[in-house]
Amino acid sequence: NEIYLQGLAGQVPPFTTEPGALEESARARLGPGPFWYVAGGAGSGATVRANREAFDEWRIVPRMLTDATTRHLGTTVLGTEMPAPVLLAPVGVQSILHPDGELATARAAAELGVPMILSNASSHALEDVAEASAEGPRWFQLYWPNDPDVCVSTLERAKKAGYTALVVTLDTWTLAWRPNDLDRAYLPFLRAVGTAIPFSDPAFRASLEKSPEDDLPMAILRWVQLYTGTDKSWDQVAFLREHWDGPILLKGIQHPDDARKAVDAGVQGVVVSNHGGRQVDGAIGSLEALPEIADAVGEQVDVLFDSGVRTGADIVKALALGAKAVLVGRPYAYGLAHGGEVGVRHVLRGLLADFDLTLGLSGHRSPAELNRDALRPRR
Ligand code: FNR
Repeated sequence: NEIYLQGLAGQVPPFTTEPGALEESARARLGPGPFWYVAGGAGSGATVRANREAFDEWRIVPRMLTDATTRHLGTTVLGTEMPAPVLLAPVGVQSILHPDGELATARAAAELGVPMILSNASSHALEDVAEASAEGPRWFQLYWPNDPDVCVSTLERAKKAGYTALVVTLDTWTLAWRPNDLDRAYLPFLRAVGTAIPFSDPAFRASLEKSPEDDLPMAILRWVQLYTGTDKSWDQVAFLREHWDGPILLKGIQHPDDARKAVDAGVQGVVVSNHGGRQVDGAIGSLEALPEIADAVGEQVDVLFDSGVRTGADIVKALALGAKAVLVGRPYAYGLAHGGEVGVRHVLRGLLADFDLTLGLSGHRSPAELNRDALRPRR
């Protein structure tokens, strides 16, 4: 309504949020390096495509006369009320896309009460992003470093800065073969990462022979080593539990047995994700993995979902297949590229409005009313 009213007054939205057009306009705006940093996937791009195709395998069956004129989008995740079943997925080094980077994203998310999951490859110090998020919810994502001192120091800082939930990403213990990065953007990307990441963690700095200010290439190399080839096992999740008081979710789960192992390891949630198709080329679409995982552990822990969510209908489908909430990645990164905080807000508000209308028009008054009967497999 607001958008149409603004249209009557001669104002049109700042940019289109139709998924294909949003990506195209971001491509026109960003150079090839930053654009492919966001858009690219592993290998041939088969998993990026599979993520989208998986949504198309399900169709919503609208129900009539269900009194869905008044709707409540709220849900409870990890025992905390959220205004909608949507979170911002962790996206690293956002200053590549806009100088305000994560600060802009945090402000937009906070205004809507949507949790932003801050990447530990953030281009702004986690304390500064916490401040930017003001009263908004704070979640932190960890790439599990090889050095336990850096791990503990990072977690301590995140706790102190008021982050409540910890998302540990398991699927990126080394970067995948990403031809788009390699061909077009990898070196500029690494340079940009090197200049964008603040390297402010004291334990990380203590592990260097020279300060990053005196020897930036060494700092970058050490950073890459710290997060590459990490040699971890399920029983080491206990180490994270020891050093984090709040809930922990494991991100990158695609097999129901791994979801069961996560539950056995004592975490509170899993994120069914294939990193937006950026890690294993030829992997199943993430939505294909969701129903089995929800059946396996959905009664015990919160099952969140990401990879390929672009529209309100996608959110309806993921929730109907057993997700408590979804994470969105690339769409808001493109919004950030378009206009910083205003751009992220525009994308997010559009997505929430689309979800609200699709939920209602398909006959549901709240996320809790969605179940598999809302869908049929495509014929
Ligand atoms: C990511 N993702 C990611 N995940 C993570 O745990 N830590 C990170 O730092 C990043 N960085 C990152 C950068 C960029 C540019 C993208 C596109 C993705 C993965 C992200 O959290 C999420 O899993 C996917 O983006 C979800 O897929 P869609 O919504 O982009 O299709």
